[in-house]
Amino acid sequence: MRFAFSAKPNPNADTTMQGNRKLLLNESQRDSMRAAGKFNASLMDYLRPFILPGISTEEIDKLVYDYTTRHGHTPATLGYLSYKKSCCTSVNDVICHGIPSSYRLKEGDIVNVDITSIVDGWHGDQSETFLVGKCSDEARAITQAAFDCMHRAIRALTPGCFVSVIGDNVVMEAHRRNYSVVREYVGHGLGKRFHQYPNIPHVPDRKSRQERLYPGLVFTVEPMINCGTRFTKLDSRDNWTVTTRDGRLSAQFEHTVLMTETGPEILTLTQNGPQYGHQF
Ligand code: MF3
Ligand code: CO
Ligand code: CO
Repeated sequence: MRFAFSAKPNPNADTTMQGNRKLLLNESQRDSMRAAGKFNASLMDYLRPFILPGISTEEIDKLVYDYTTRHGHTPATLGYLSYKKSCCTSVNDVICHGIPSSYRLKEGDIVNVDITSIVDGWHGDQSETFLVGKCSDEARAITQAAFDCMHRAIRALTPGCFVSVIGDNVVMEAHRRNYSVVREYVGHGLGKRFHQYPNIPHVPDRKSRQERLYPGLVFTVEPMINCGTRFTKLDSRDNWTVTTRDGRLSAQFEHTVLMTETGPEILTLTQNGPQYGHQF
């Protein structure tokens, strides 16, 4: 039996898009998101030279708060649900949502700094994993893997492609190196809201094989890659910190991406950070 397949994205035909059509941004809304992403990236560039052995993660948090507010903007995580800090700092076996504390980074740590800004009502969201001083080969390799997974997934995207293209590419790149991919925490649409339609799983699932990334949609790609088991543990004391079950290392990178009529546009590109192809 023949069945028709239209290569041209048609949001009207995608029932998962119903009720979410307004999330496909017009050119002026896209410019607002470009400005939010650009500011958020400038904050990452500002932080980079401070991420050294001896700095505490709450000192990093203060740098984030001060830089953001000094520029007239707002850290999105501050007061988000029960979260009370301006960024997340996830060290070593912490997968994500590490809460800034008096812990001081030491040589050999890896730390993911995840920052989200609200600029004139629009969000920019990104993270980088930093190698603190001289690191083990394993620390370097897992950081490289997370970086390559993110970029491979972004570069595979085309206008109107399935969301599952992201999971397919992340899994391929991670498994090739014998690393695992976290499932419980996902990327997300963002815009006027921090977390909105669609969910962006980094492992393909049934829903992501049915939903499409139409021009005008903004979302994050933020794979969390583990050296050992993919399984996670939520800290029962703070209800935020997510660690690997086996205590082995985890790394993550995140960009905010706008799908355009010609392909993906990364809105959170930095000036001084690692660019596509970087070797850690
Ligand atoms: N920035 C994270 C993300 O990429 C979310 C952090 S929410 C917080 O989606 F409350 F933990 F800060
Ligand atoms: Co983030
Ligand atoms: Co995010």
